[in-house]
Amino acid sequence: MSSENTSTQNQSLKEWVAHWEKIFEPDQTHWCDGSEEEYEKFTKELVDSGTFIRLNDNLRPNSFLARSDPDDVARVESDTYIASTKEIDAGSTNNWREPNALKEEMLTHYQGCMKGRTLYVIPFCMGPLGSTISHIGIQLSDSPYVAASMKIMTRMGIEVLDELGEGDFVPCVHSVGFPLGEGQKDVPWPCNKDVRYISHFPETREIWSYGSGYGGNALLGKKCFALRIASTMARDDGWLAEHMLILGVTPPDGEKRYIAAAFPSACGKTNMAMLVPTIPGWKVETIGDDIAWMKFSSDGQLRAINPEAGFFGVAPGTSKSTNANAMKTLWGNAIFTNVALDENGDVWWERMTVDRPDSLVDWQGRDWNAESGEPAAHPNARFTVPASQCPSIAPEWEDPEGVPISAIMFGGRRASNVPLVTQARNWEHGVFLGSIMSSEKTAAAAGKIGEVRFDPFAMLPFMGYNVGDYIKHWIEIGKVDKSNKLPELFWVNWFRKDENGDFLWPGFGENSRVLKWILDRIDGNTQAIDTPLGLLPEIDGIDTKGLDLDSSAMAKLLEVNSESWSEEIPLIEEHLGSIGERLPVEMTSQLNDLKSRIGLGT
Ligand code: GTP
Ligand code: SPV
Ligand code: MN
Repeated sequence: MSSENTSTQNQSLKEWVAHWEKIFEPDQTHWCDGSEEEYEKFTKELVDSGTFIRLNDNLRPNSFLARSDPDDVARVESDTYIASTKEIDAGSTNNWREPNALKEEMLTHYQGCMKGRTLYVIPFCMGPLGSTISHIGIQLSDSPYVAASMKIMTRMGIEVLDELGEGDFVPCVHSVGFPLGEGQKDVPWPCNKDVRYISHFPETREIWSYGSGYGGNALLGKKCFALRIASTMARDDGWLAEHMLILGVTPPDGEKRYIAAAFPSACGKTNMAMLVPTIPGWKVETIGDDIAWMKFSSDGQLRAINPEAGFFGVAPGTSKSTNANAMKTLWGNAIFTNVALDENGDVWWERMTVDRPDSLVDWQGRDWNAESGEPAAHPNARFTVPASQCPSIAPEWEDPEGVPISAIMFGGRRASNVPLVTQARNWEHGVFLGSIMSSEKTAAAAGKIGEVRFDPFAMLPFMGYNVGDYIKHWIEIGKVDKSNKLPELFWVNWFRKDENGDFLWPGFGENSRVLKWILDRIDGNTQAIDTPLGLLPEIDGIDTKGLDLDSSAMAKLLEVNSESWSEEIPLIEEHLGSIGERLPVEMTSQLNDLKSRIGLGT
């Protein structure tokens, strides 16, 4: 075993790496420096090993296509664990495991799991270097695909070790679980089809992942650290780590305001973050598209940073008409995973262009047959690209102080019942709306698509602790005297459908009309109607100038139907009931209030 020299003086880091080298038994260890030369070396090796296909440099410079194993295409929630000493601390929404037993079990798999491979030591910072909101992690991985992706998705390399000094880091351990025997040929996408763990130890702030090389299972800075571990850090230290985009919105001649929004996976965060407003004179700028870390500054203002440095976005559905800024961001320096390849050596995915290319190679490397009914790109195909390339990125997106948040939106994918936009009456009511959010399942996670499930705060798969405590933490955040600077809370739904199953709302850039209503509410410039659900726009409250939308569609979008809500109440009761003993009493009184407002006894 040869271990390259590292400049770090951090003794506990060096010991930790040495400890894992003994377990993993890699052929060699590489400390990532994060340089461009190193990235080039990674991509070259990935091309040589068959993991990457270099795209046509004239069309998509310095960009690559990776095809994953067909069994390793999304987050696997069933193999995701929260290992706290007490089961109750993981709560009803998480798969709980006893930490010591889980570690013992995983160690049997980790033993010798990097034979024939290189161990990459990946120092990364979530958030701008030097920000008091940022945190450092070190990931160990045997996947050069992961190392290359972490270079795009995080601030990665030598500066992070310098910043870390002798300080603490979140240890993140990852292996694809595919050791190579003497002379054994590697496969393009090594993973372990039989054994998979994405394990979190919130009490010791550790992450252990095994068996998958895909997305959130393997890029441990993302969901594992920035949400599951960070949410527990945030609970302990009085801040928020959330599954939210962050955008800046500037009305014509108006002041720029910042809004964060929590939507479940594949429900529109990246699109909203890069929204091109259809209302004249309005401007939207991107701060982040997936995760927000929010802390109160000394003046009581909630400020947010995007802990990531890149976008890991859903490819299918991304087009010039739906998300022009994402398309422009993808001009080069991108990694595409599980998209289709066209004849010119460029990428394609469903709905990317109106006319689809005549001939395509699908995400599994097969000649694609349009008649097969199978998509050419996997529904959870993704792009990985530096955020700095986004034309709508805000100049202040890396401000270490973060940006002040004026409003927070919660939204799911709901064909019925949930109106286009609802303002919470107050913080506690907003927390209730966040806690009863539900959404149809998407391809971002393995499992049945389309099924409606409750997804509190879009955090169902990402809370590192008990969901009841999580809701309690949100209530507490609202109780601290913050000189009335708390953001206003809103509930939105772009996905309501008519009786033919068509979306009632055009969505995408037109969502700027809802942003406008939200700012108008914050500024006291528009009236709202008090409904059983909360404060809704008047029928002409949303600016629809230039939009071909008849008033019956708007009436349906804003409808609060007490009868169908009565049918939803038992589901909400069951959902809140399932949270168990740690459900805050405030939620029960909110539920009772909702019931009486829709005419049900309590
Ligand atoms: P993750 O990266 O998995 O967390 O997803 P996301 O929340 O960033 O979702 P994204 O913006 O990638 O959108 C997912 C899918 O929803 C894409 O197919 C989009 O085209 C579609 N979508 C996004 N916004 C809208 C909208 O306003 N209306 C409709 N109808 N579809 C939308
Ligand atoms: C999501 O599923 O919400 C994603 C993709 O953003 S992953 O990074 O795989 O979690
Ligand atoms: Mn996204």
